[in-house]
Amino acid sequence: MKVLLIGSGGREHVLAWKIKQSPKVDRLFCAPGNAGTAEISENVDLKDTDLTGIVQFAKNEKIDLVVVGPEDPLALGLIDELNTAGIRAFGPDKAAARLEGDKAFAKEMMRHRSVPTADVRIFTKYRDAKAYIASRDVGIVVKAAGLAKGKGAIVCEDPADALIALERIMVKREFGSAGNTVLVEEKLTGPEVSVLALVDENTIYVLENAQDHKPIGEGDTGLNTGGMGAYCPTDLLDDKLLTQIESEILVPIVDALRLEGIKYKGVLYAGLMLTSGGPKVLEFNCRFGDPEAQPILMRLKNDIIDVFDALIDNKLDSITLQWDPRASICVVMASGGYPGSYEKGKTIAGLNQANAMDGVVVFHAGTKHTNGQVITNGGRVLGVTALGETLQDAADLCYQAVDKIKFDGAYYRRDIGAKALKKVASTT
Ligand code: AMP
Ligand code: GLY
Repeated sequence: MKVLLIGSGGREHVLAWKIKQSPKVDRLFCAPGNAGTAEISENVDLKDTDLTGIVQFAKNEKIDLVVVGPEDPLALGLIDELNTAGIRAFGPDKAAARLEGDKAFAKEMMRHRSVPTADVRIFTKYRDAKAYIASRDVGIVVKAAGLAKGKGAIVCEDPADALIALERIMVKREFGSAGNTVLVEEKLTGPEVSVLALVDENTIYVLENAQDHKPIGEGDTGLNTGGMGAYCPTDLLDDKLLTQIESEILVPIVDALRLEGIKYKGVLYAGLMLTSGGPKVLEFNCRFGDPEAQPILMRLKNDIIDVFDALIDNKLDSITLQWDPRASICVVMASGGYPGSYEKGKTIAGLNQANAMDGVVVFHAGTKHTNGQVITNGGRVLGVTALGETLQDAADLCYQAVDKIKFDGAYYRRDIGAKALKKVASTT
């Protein structure tokens, strides 16, 4: 069969890597892809938001399945357009993807079914938001309601910081129209965990969980990014907590959508904080996490095409996911300056040496080929991912691989997985 994968990040490289392993797949295209996907698929020069171009390409090439990685094309309605054209596609439709694309809508859906989440006030007027923030005296999170590449949530220690954040979003318009509406949330505390589930019309199938590291700085300091590293599984969720997350969060949110006439089909990602009052939702995403997809999918043993097919046909209950028992970890190497401005075009050395290590795969994100070399082409450049018997083994191997890779200004966090490892150390 012929598969077209949409996107160009690390998540798409790991998806391409999994799709390519399926004996069912004869040809794999990736639009637009990166230097990593170019090595295992045929990159197509189409933006992931060029819906017309993508549908046309899929028709011309008689694509059997389109897999959509990122949120932007989902929010724009790529799945709807593909389905209208009679093309099989994996991902939620436009109405369902609103759960990620419109945080105010997500909060409303959560309220309908009392899904636990941070208390919130929603504003469309700067003046009103400013007055509300000024009246608060505790930690506050200010969020742009629309899509902002993971950077639109600003966690503030006090109202003075929150007023600056509000100005960035609503006055300086740092996230463009994503900041037309803002959410002002209570600041929650506790460990974070990403719970991803496959959802079809009958079944919610929870995947192995992962922990992301959103802030740019070690010790979780500084600005939020798309994610600087992740590991899988975590030891944060026991069976009881998982059951609670399913029954209090995943089932009710899918139900709330259904009551609005929206059938959720695809990956449902719940970003959760494990507070002293129980798990609470920070956000929902409508696709695999990036970088969570790298460590999660590196452990998935199933043919991923079988998984996509089962979900599309509402037969998720017929599959059993098989997991590699080893731990996995992904460390993101970014361009110096990210998540602010950064330079592109730096030559990357050491990729082959890192990839040659047993148990290591270097997934590309912001990379491209120029004159036979791989150069940087984005904020998050690579997701170096490794498997190990224990998380410590995986982390040691991963950082050995990271050390082999060089480019000007390369930045990465040295403490991916460190909190979990410290916990292990203190209990042994
Ligand atoms: P979001 O894009 O909404 O997931 O937010 C990005 C990150 O900001 C999360 O992963 C958390 O680290 C942090 N965050 C978001 N909302 C809250 C909240 N209500 N309290 C504390 N931290 C938050
Ligand atoms: N890693 C966070 C996200 O994919 O949104």
